[in-house]
Amino acid sequence: MKGLILSGGKGTRLRPLTFTRAKQLIPIANKANLFYVVEDLAKAGVKDIGIVISPETGEEIKQAVGDGSRWGVHCTFIVQEQPLGLAHAVKTALPFLGDDEFVMYLGDNLLSGGISHLVEEYKRGGIDSTVLLVPVDNPSQFGVAVLNEQGQVVRLVEKPKDPPSNLALVGVYIFNHHIHEMIADLRPSWRGEYEITDAIQALITHNFRVTAHQVRGWWKDTGKPEDLLEANRLILSQITRSIQGHIEKSDVVGEVVVEKDAYIANSCIRGPVHIAGKVVIENSYIGPYTSIGTGTKIVHSEVEYSILLNESEVYNLPYRLDSSVVGQGVVVDGRGGGPRKHTLQLVLGDRSRVQL
Ligand code: DAU
Repeated sequence: MKGLILSGGKGTRLRPLTFTRAKQLIPIANKANLFYVVEDLAKAGVKDIGIVISPETGEEIKQAVGDGSRWGVHCTFIVQEQPLGLAHAVKTALPFLGDDEFVMYLGDNLLSGGISHLVEEYKRGGIDSTVLLVPVDNPSQFGVAVLNEQGQVVRLVEKPKDPPSNLALVGVYIFNHHIHEMIADLRPSWRGEYEITDAIQALITHNFRVTAHQVRGWWKDTGKPEDLLEANRLILSQITRSIQGHIEKSDVVGEVVVEKDAYIANSCIRGPVHIAGKVVIENSYIGPYTSIGTGTKIVHSEVEYSILLNESEVYNLPYRLDSSVVGQGVVVDGRGGGPRKHTLQLVLGDRSRVQL
């Protein structure tokens, strides 16, 4: 069985962060979303992986992933010239997929329970396609499934205005070659995309066997800043304490990872927090559910429930930085000491400059 990761698209809902980087490479607990996906496939024994990339961000993804050998897999990159939809991405990958069965995994999805159980069940045979479902509060933002009393999928609809159920399609699917026949006959949807949801609906209409599973543990689509922060919280809830950097006169409480060559002085860190190598934190407070990327510097400031990417600088903030996503190489320079009565919420693209 092959793997197909969809890592193209435009990432418009994550602007300004995605003006300068692929959304699948935004780090969650200091590891790119895409890397969690490759790991999940590798753990399920899927070793031959195609990665669909866009012309704009593809090179960055190639550089970051390499040939896959660090995960014991082999990665092939497939350029999709335009983001015409998930089914179009599968069509573009046809020369790589051939007639093989494959797991399709969206590069901006995160699952805590992995996919091994799905792959094992599919390999036992008798199924043409498997989809993964989860109950959500906002089904209109997803593909939605309707099940019959036996739990079989009877209908699928993409981003319905009036959702027929609260069961969202998660971005993990297993297919055999019949999906290509359905895709060949697809028409673009109202939003102008070739929808994989419509192709699976066509499988059902043609009486192919489509099974559904509910997600084990949690699932997150990291398409929006608030989803990134929530995914970061979920991953950080699972970390265990490991201190390798240098700590001086500081209070480091709970599940905190401090990587090698990080330096923390006169500060209070309350886990769960993930601090990458070469980070400098002085006279500051870092609160729960915060990830700080390599080489970032935080001085005389308070940060909580936030993601800071690499090589940013945060100085003398008069407010507590909360629920924020700060891009790479950003400078946030405050002028103020004194008590921090208010919080500040920012989503800043790479190399932004803010003065307070
Ligand atoms: O996350 C689950 C949802 O993913 C499902 O519930 C929906 O049924 C499914 O259509 C999809 O919806 P999104 O609107 O969230 O898909 P998005 O445009 O964010 O694309 C998902 C991934 O696929 C993302 O990593 C970008 C990539 N992609 C997207 C398009 C449109 C491509 O590689 N090529 C494309 O043409």
